[in-house]
Amino acid sequence: MNLVERFGLWGLHKLDPETAHGVSLKLLRAGLGPKHGPVRRPRLECRMAGLHFANPIGLAAGYDKNAEAVGPLARAGFGFLEVGAATPKPQPGNPRPRVFRLTGDQAVINRFGFNNEGVTAIANRLAKVKSDVPVGLNLGANKDSADRRQDYGHVLRTAAPHIDFATINISSPNTEKLRDLQGKAALEDLLGHVTAANSDLDTPLPLFLKVAPDLTDVDIQDISDLCLAHDIDAIIATNTTLDRNGLVDVQHGEMGGLSGAPLMEKSTRVLAKFAAATDGQMPLVGVGGVASAADAYAKIQAGATLVQLYSAMVYKGISLVADVAKGLDSLLEADGLDSVSQAVGQDMDRWL
Ligand SMILES: Cc1cc2nc3c(=O)[nH]c(=O)nc-3n(C[C@H](O)[C@H](O)[C@H](O)COP(=O)(O)O)c2cc1C
Repeated sequence: MNLVERFGLWGLHKLDPETAHGVSLKLLRAGLGPKHGPVRRPRLECRMAGLHFANPIGLAAGYDKNAEAVGPLARAGFGFLEVGAATPKPQPGNPRPRVFRLTGDQAVINRFGFNNEGVTAIANRLAKVKSDVPVGLNLGANKDSADRRQDYGHVLRTAAPHIDFATINISSPNTEKLRDLQGKAALEDLLGHVTAANSDLDTPLPLFLKVAPDLTDVDIQDISDLCLAHDIDAIIATNTTLDRNGLVDVQHGEMGGLSGAPLMEKSTRVLAKFAAATDGQMPLVGVGGVASAADAYAKIQAGATLVQLYSAMVYKGISLVADVAKGLDSLLEADGLDSVSQAVGQDMDRWL
């Protein structure tokens, strides 16, 4: 991190976290972020779900909920981006304050509750941007929806012409009963509905499913079997956790989903369990607590083809993205590997 970024982060941390988040997006849009483009190294190139990635480090959903800074983010080093969550209708989300910096734990708690401008506005914005890297949309459901299955299908159909992949997000803890969709019968029904909507598109998209870290082994096996049966293209593990174990920051009692450093171990264990439960047949995206190249490498060795990050940027700035990608290249080289794909799942047992 250079001095300018260090000073910028210091200033952002003087603001309340939600204001700082908005300012960071404005700064990116004003051209103040890195502009070097995706980190490109032959060793980091990879493919998943028919898509090509210059590097496996992606932006996790929730930072650019309304797709306001896709161009600048695509130039910041990431190999891919996920924007949203988008819901059919715009919705304000939960009352403020609804996001908290737990500096003592290098963590974040949020209870945003899918605040977003709605899929029509988001799709219109996505239609206007050109990105060198794959861009996906996190699909959400409105809080007051009578039929959440329809919501996912609606968001998918509306945004499909302008995105490269879509993620069915049933793992946000901040929309009441959303996580119930991870139950076997509800998920079977939902996946049937969304995959049918996807097949009806002129060009069906790669469909990913994003899961919570707070799952039992039985849940993990059930979800894995259903994803394989419905030809889901990848599982993203994981979203934020409700677990508050081991935190020291005074704000640890805030309600919502916890992300950042304390989530690293838990989400990587869940990731490895999905790798085992799908017997290597299902590509995985590892997310939760990645703050260094070593963390990204650990996720890949636990079974991830791609990695995403978000919360660590709050503490380490956006230059972290290129640092993680370049550092990963060096770690692979030190281990004598020619391609990141050779490392996938190599150390899965350590996490089981
Ligand atoms: C403020 C905030 C908002 C988020 N919003 C979403 C969201 O809309 N959809 C989603 O699937 N995940 C959302 N997430 C979860 C992240 O995508 C990611 O799964 C989680 O934060 C763990 O990664 P991290 O530790 O690198 O942040 C959000 C996370 C944060 C911190």
